[in-house]
Amino acid sequence: MAQLARAFTCDKNEERLLTMSYPRVIGLDIGTRVVKLVEVHRSRKQLQLSYVGCCPLPYGVIVEKEIQQPEELANAVMSLYRNSKSKTTNVCLSVAGKSIITKQISLNSMSDQELEKLIAIEAEPYIPFPMEDVNLDFVILGDSPDRPGFMEVLLVAAKKDFLSQYVDLVTSLNLTPVVVDVDCYALEVMFEYCYPDIEDETVALINVGASLTNINILTAGKSHFVRDLPLGGDLVTRDIMRFFNVDFIQAENIKRGARLGNISPTNLKSLIDRNVEMLVAELKKTLEFFSINIARKSPQSIFLSGGGASLYGLSNTLETETGLPVFMVDPFRLVSADTKQFDSDYLTIVGPSMAIAFGLSMRHERDKLE
Ligand SMILES: Nc1ncnc2c1ncn2[C@@H]1O[C@H](COP(=O)(O)OP(=O)(O)OP(=O)(O)O)[C@@H](O)[C@H]1O
Ligand SMILES: [Mg+2]
Repeated sequence: MAQLARAFTCDKNEERLLTMSYPRVIGLDIGTRVVKLVEVHRSRKQLQLSYVGCCPLPYGVIVEKEIQQPEELANAVMSLYRNSKSKTTNVCLSVAGKSIITKQISLNSMSDQELEKLIAIEAEPYIPFPMEDVNLDFVILGDSPDRPGFMEVLLVAAKKDFLSQYVDLVTSLNLTPVVVDVDCYALEVMFEYCYPDIEDETVALINVGASLTNINILTAGKSHFVRDLPLGGDLVTRDIMRFFNVDFIQAENIKRGARLGNISPTNLKSLIDRNVEMLVAELKKTLEFFSINIARKSPQSIFLSGGGASLYGLSNTLETETGLPVFMVDPFRLVSADTKQFDSDYLTIVGPSMAIAFGLSMRHERDKLE
């Protein structure tokens, strides 16, 4: 049975590229609406983009992160994989949502090896599922600031049956799932490689997908607080379907600016504004929760990613409401891309939605599944 990969631990960017064996892996982000695939390779100490692609999924293939139509999903993954002409079958994928529990807990200080043996016992009080039904993982964050002799540990638990849907699907395609990550931590990996200059700040990484919004607040480059909110671009699409009596595909197109005869731009704008305000209010609440209850400090900036980050007005409203600078993530900023193969406008447009797939493509062999 596959296990969750060990959560990511930080080394310096360059050290990794220079010292680590770096097997080729493909970053495969299976989203509710879009499957994304990214592959990078190392060439003379520099990272180069080998492939970036995405394939939309029909409505209903994944519902609340559960795979409902495995054949459709398999077709999408395979068409991307074939397109990539990749030489490796090693895949890093990630999971998210309500079947994944992440919690920061304080434990008596001990070594990584000691905790490895004790983790099932220590974690039990925090996991709302029978222990035999979950895969567990942890990372030691460091000493507890207020409790001498204690350390802070990030716990990650995933329901086995949930995890195995994804692992089995990928395996059935003769691909090898070497790492199963969590969306929020893939974002952290992406950020570490792409923004090494901002390592010391407290930053909020916010990835707005279709059904979920992943939040990871980093302090000094490490995850300090992670949360998935059950909100995303689908809420707007469904609102458009209801309000204008159109189907899902039409609603998606309208959301992205397509004109349809009987749609009033004023009504559409107020519908989108309403959704943006609701989403921003939830994000603000989460950031305030972090500042008041977790860290006693606020993030200094927000890095926005995910397909839903392009929702009209979201970035500006988030900036106004939080008073924080909001940057759109560009995962390809430090990666060289052959201009004959990759159109730079295309990379700019798809960049934010590739943040997780890019983070997954940067994983290395240490995290192999057992
Ligand atoms: N230009 C755009 N304007 C508004 N929304 C957009 C735009 N482009 C994409 N989206 C929205 O982004 C969402 C898809 O984003 P993404 O691919 O990150 O989600 P996902 O990974 O499939 O979903 P999840 O992570 O929630 O399972 C959809 O709701 C889509 O409508
Ligand atoms: Mg996603």
